[in-house]
Amino acid sequence: MKVVAVWTIKGGVGKTAAAVNLACLSALDGQRTLLWDLDPQGAASFYFRVKAKVKGGGRKLLKRSAALQPLVHATDIENLDLLPADFSYRLLDLQLDAHKAPERRLALKLEPLAEEYDTVFLDCPPSVSLASESVLRAADALLVPVIPTTLSLRGLKQVRSFARKVGRRGLLVLPFLSMVDRRKTMHREAIERCAADGGFLAAAIPSASVVEKMGVHRAPLNAYAPSCEAAQAFAELWRELRARLGTGG
Ligand SMILES: Nc1ncnc2c1ncn2[C@@H]1O[C@H](COP(=O)(O)OP(=O)(O)OP(=O)(O)O)[C@@H](O)[C@H]1O
Ligand SMILES: [Mg+2]
Repeated sequence: MKVVAVWTIKGGVGKTAAAVNLACLSALDGQRTLLWDLDPQGAASFYFRVKAKVKGGGRKLLKRSAALQPLVHATDIENLDLLPADFSYRLLDLQLDAHKAPERRLALKLEPLAEEYDTVFLDCPPSVSLASESVLRAADALLVPVIPTTLSLRGLKQVRSFARKVGRRGLLVLPFLSMVDRRKTMHREAIERCAADGGFLAAAIPSASVVEKMGVHRAPLNAYAPSCEAAQAFAELWRELRARLGTGG
């Protein structure tokens, strides 16, 4: 089982869009896939038409004796399950802190799912916290959406330094370009700097209203516009990620 976290310090950069579309592509690829919506906003749950509610909330879920599997919902997509968000996840830091070795708790919770799933995606809220630390300890790969602007690149630097400090040994940090608008000079310049960085995945997700429409369709792009440019870009991102994880293809 490979765990992929989609996280960065910055908000509104396309984390949830990536987590939802990649989880869908992973499932379509035949991998048994789980998407865990760790954001109290519950956007990923919304996209899959699942109520953002977990019985007993984050506090109960983090207990050693509480299994995650009974909290999982099936989605309309074969091979894709969802562990929904809960508003109590806003207190996840406090809830984690009540346990010994809180930074290892999410990895511990995921361990029993290793037989059930090939790939688990974690859609994370944009904060730097104990919860993010626990996420980085649980993940094999960290996907970092970067909008090609100066501030986002600065954010990536902070993410890399935090991941080095607290992440699992061997954690793959994989930035990719998100919401790219090549008509903007600033984006084109920042894209050049990203290319020079050398660490970016090649796929770049364009800024496109068809992605925003996920909120109207309440479905991943593949369900309503599988051949649009953005869907192709997510498909390329998935192929690259799969290759980096070494999980077939
Ligand atoms: N490639 C894209 N092109 C255009 N709009 C996009 C794209 N990706 C995401 N969006 C829109 O931008 C907004 C933020 O996207 P998303 O929720 O994926 O970001 P996020 O990083 O998960 O945000 P948060 O930090 O709040 O969790 C949403 O309204 C979404 O529809
Ligand atoms: Mg999000």
